[in-house]
Amino acid sequence: MIIQPQIQGCVARNCHPIGCRAAVAQQIASVKAAGPFNGPKRVLVLGASSGFGLASRIALAFGAGADTIGVSFERGPSDKGIGSAGWYNNIWFRQAAEQEGRIAVNLIGDAFSDAMRQQAIASIRQQLGQVDLVVYSLASGIRLLADGTQVRSVLKTTGQPFSGWGLDLEHDSLVQQSLAPATPEEIRDTVTVMGGEDWQLWLQALQQADCLAPGVQTVAYSYIGPESTYPLYRDGTIGYAKEHLHATAEAINLQLAALGGHAWVSVCKALVTKASAYIPVLPVYLGLLMGVMKERGVHEGCIEQMQRLFASKMYGPRGVVADGNRLIRMDDHELDPAIQAAVSALWSKVTPDNFHALGDFAGLRRDFMQLNGFELAEVDYGAPVNESALTELTP
Ligand code: NAI
Ligand code: NA
Repeated sequence: MIIQPQIQGCVARNCHPIGCRAAVAQQIASVKAAGPFNGPKRVLVLGASSGFGLASRIALAFGAGADTIGVSFERGPSDKGIGSAGWYNNIWFRQAAEQEGRIAVNLIGDAFSDAMRQQAIASIRQQLGQVDLVVYSLASGIRLLADGTQVRSVLKTTGQPFSGWGLDLEHDSLVQQSLAPATPEEIRDTVTVMGGEDWQLWLQALQQADCLAPGVQTVAYSYIGPESTYPLYRDGTIGYAKEHLHATAEAINLQLAALGGHAWVSVCKALVTKASAYIPVLPVYLGLLMGVMKERGVHEGCIEQMQRLFASKMYGPRGVVADGNRLIRMDDHELDPAIQAAVSALWSKVTPDNFHALGDFAGLRRDFMQLNGFELAEVDYGAPVNESALTELTP
């Protein structure tokens, strides 16, 4: 079978499994090129199959020699399709890690459920004994609560409606998008799904099960962004959820004190991932930002961000490097005033006719395609993919 990309709006409907292998290999090579660092040896990654979670896992396994257990929600091949990119990322990661003698376990299922917490605890006991680091990198539009209630997050603003140009990845064009103000219920629900409650439930369950090693650390990922994006993010429903996540870090930090452990939030840079491509208007900011940051030689992708986070801002010679609010700032380059001034100047001029000339929308699009295993130079997309061989692969 020859696999062609199917993009619908800003969602990829399929993936190229062999391309996913090349993308994972590229990330591994990037971490190896950056050199080893003295990081944690036993790690649990929640949301391990794509974006920041996958990059974290690769940085820790191949940079610090960590054994890892990764939890994710992904689809394998079936009569419905070839399966999700994250499904294959898990498999290719495990194969590569095992080749270097590392333990790599993939747990597939709902990270919001107690059943998955119990599965992870059993796996930690059996494979690792305890963990030194828990990475929390879930991004989801829905959370199933223990009582069976389904809660949905929304991407809306608060206060006044906000509209601007958005990116249609399917047609490579700009379209008007708007964010309506959220109701109080929508804000609350988004906090339930994307806030810190589930992170805390994980750390409580792990601590009660004696799965956390002395000096354990945990980190969750957040975004703040420049003022120009506040209506889209910080003052939007997702911003409320992140505020809750930040507050939860303090509660977990207190909880971990008994073990000499710490909980951190790492505020990351805006990057193309499955989750961020879905936020209205933000990808236009992102395309302009990528252009400016590349021009100034400070662009980072997911893997460079996570490698730098662990090697120099969490496990480097200076230990954890955080700001006065105990936030680890990986958005330092993005928020550089000179970079933001350049982005703002472009943003005020951007139109459907000139956007390619003003920003790195080709780069953004390529990154998006590569998340799903397409447009990697080293892959021969004319070669048929052996479906039955893929069906035999297990997570
Ligand atoms: P992503 O969509 O690439 O990764 C999400 C991960 O969560 C995947 O591994 C997926 O399988 C897993 N997942 C989702 N629902 C699940 C469930 N019910 N059970 C188990 N696993 C589940 O997203 P991305 O962008 O890597 O996001 C991770 C975190 O980083 C989020 O908290 C996001 O807000 C944050 N972040 C993202 C930024 C960006 O620009 N992409 C910037 C700063 C922070
Ligand atoms: Na992730």
